[in-house]
Amino acid sequence: EIIDAHGQILLPGFVDLHTHLREPGREDTETIESGSAAAALGGYTAVFAMANTSPVADSVVVTDHVWRRGQEVGLVDVYPVGAVTVGLEGKQLAEMGTMASGVGAVRMFSDDGHCVYDPLLMRRALEYANTLGVLIAQHAEEPRLTKGAVAHEGPTAARLGLAGWPRAAEESIVARDAILARDAGARVHICHASTAGTVELVKWAKAQGISITAEVTPHHLLLDDSRLETYDAVNKVNPPLREASDAAALRQALADGIIDCVATDHAPHAEQDKCCEFAAARPGMLGLETALSIIVQTMVEPGLLDWRGVARVMSEQPAAIVGLDEHGRPIEVGEPANLTLVDPEAGWTVRANELASISNNTPFEDMTFPARVTTTLLRGRVTAREGKAGG
Ligand code: DOR
Ligand code: ZN
Ligand code: ZN
Repeated sequence: EIIDAHGQILLPGFVDLHTHLREPGREDTETIESGSAAAALGGYTAVFAMANTSPVADSVVVTDHVWRRGQEVGLVDVYPVGAVTVGLEGKQLAEMGTMASGVGAVRMFSDDGHCVYDPLLMRRALEYANTLGVLIAQHAEEPRLTKGAVAHEGPTAARLGLAGWPRAAEESIVARDAILARDAGARVHICHASTAGTVELVKWAKAQGISITAEVTPHHLLLDDSRLETYDAVNKVNPPLREASDAAALRQALADGIIDCVATDHAPHAEQDKCCEFAAARPGMLGLETALSIIVQTMVEPGLLDWRGVARVMSEQPAAIVGLDEHGRPIEVGEPANLTLVDPEAGWTVRANELASISNNTPFEDMTFPARVTTTLLRGRVTAREGKAGG
């Protein structure tokens, strides 16, 4: 087979540290198979499937299933993320060691969607993770500050009568966990950084030599809370879309290396869970198939990142954060490669019904972007080509 890469950009396969596939539990909204197709089309060769499934991925039975099913589908390596606590409720630590030594070899544990807000429990989680050599990825939401909150706390939410989610809900946990990680001599990863204040805290923590890393989503780089004007629940997400000044600070931080990588927080939801009143709708938006295009628009076109930088934030740094060192490593000389080709001239318009995801909750509907993934190879095998997954 001949792949004509004329005029295209060759990048290492992308690694997404934050993907919600809905298997097991909500296969009506996404399966490992449909999510793998979306990932391949988005240029990904590895995704980390978040633990808030049903049942929760707090046991080796679930994490091994996710890994095995991903391998069976064969479009992308689906690495299971284990839950930090049993049932995600944050009361008792899950058996991380058992999950880490299973077939799924869990290397990242998260409380995503349900912050571990008990500092004592978080301290023990960090210490335990440190002894296992695994990573804790913190959703960073102090729930006592977000009770009933549905949108960023600011002038827009106030005018629209939407209950506000303060920046402090995120920043107080980021600050706390940076200190806890320092004292435990452990690593901590901050999920979906969304505020300028989080950027300052991560910068401070790194300057102290604390082992902290952070990710940012494409939607927090591109969108802001002005999108709420329509009350369209497609714009509802946790953490919420912030103000334009936060988005600008996040873009600069990604350019400067304070934020390490892009992660999608791909969160499929059913129509009926998104079409209701804003306050009642589920939070989350699709991300896998649009991520690269948004990074080109927000980071490459304004000159904040060059293509080398894109490889860093989409592939190399996320891989390094989770220590992918065997088949997950983006490019290894002498081995079949994980590669992504991007056509920088291929403008396209997002249509939810043309995406591979089972769900349609993209906030980018009808938006036109400047570049698109054309080809993805997993260990030398085509997994997506000209808009078709499967190769
Ligand atoms: O917007 C979000 N959606 N944030 C989360 O923390 C969870 C996720 C989901 O599972 O839908
Ligand atoms: Zn989250
Ligand atoms: Zn998430």
